[in-house]
Amino acid sequence: MSKIIEKIEFIYQFLNKPKTVGAITPSSKHLTKKILSFVDFKKEGLVLLEYGPGTGPFTSEIVKYLKPTDQLIVIELNPKFATDLKEKFKDYKNVKIHEDCVANTQKILDKEGIKKVDYIISGIPFSSLPKDVTEDILINTKSIMSNTTIFLTFQYSKFKKESFEKYFEIIDVKFVFWNIPSAFVFCMKKLV
Ligand SMILES: C[S@@+](CC[C@H](N)C(=O)[O-])C[C@H]1O[C@@H](n2cnc3c(N)ncnc32)[C@H](O)[C@@H]1O
Repeated sequence: MSKIIEKIEFIYQFLNKPKTVGAITPSSKHLTKKILSFVDFKKEGLVLLEYGPGTGPFTSEIVKYLKPTDQLIVIELNPKFATDLKEKFKDYKNVKIHEDCVANTQKILDKEGIKKVDYIISGIPFSSLPKDVTEDILINTKSIMSNTTIFLTFQYSKFKKESFEKYFEIIDVKFVFWNIPSAFVFCMKKLV
């Protein structure tokens, strides 16, 4: 599928489900590069978890760096996005796409036989979701993290910073101007 068709599909899904899609257009290559700059792809046997990939701008970049021993587990709630992603990444044996809610991540990890996650890369639009849904996702996320897991997410404002700080230590925040809208990347570890 061409990038233009993907953008049109994204806008269509946003118009259908504005709160869960949460953005009018997929993330830019600048935002993609910034969020992935926090990932050390040199590490062997890397386990990455991607929340809310949409049309897959992060996924497409991650697979360029995946080694045969690495694993990428992708969780997308939207059936159309999930179906397209399954087709797009069907040749990657170490990429698993799950059409599901990230609240079910523990069940998905159990099914995949994964005990430890190195990075969680999230596209979930926390600011447009109901507060209790956001809290639920953050609590679930913390519960699957070890002390070394890095949780990366982007937001269009710092509005959710206080919610993040209830569960995570914010290690770094980077601003990305070249995205619609401009965004902040949060790099976090779980609070111990
Ligand atoms: C702002 S879009 C981000 C898409 C993509 N990561 C990007 O940066 O362009 C949010 C995505 O999160 C998905 N999403 C929202 N809530 C979700 C949930 N509870 N579980 C899984 N995916 C969810 C939406 O369907 C949508 O694809």
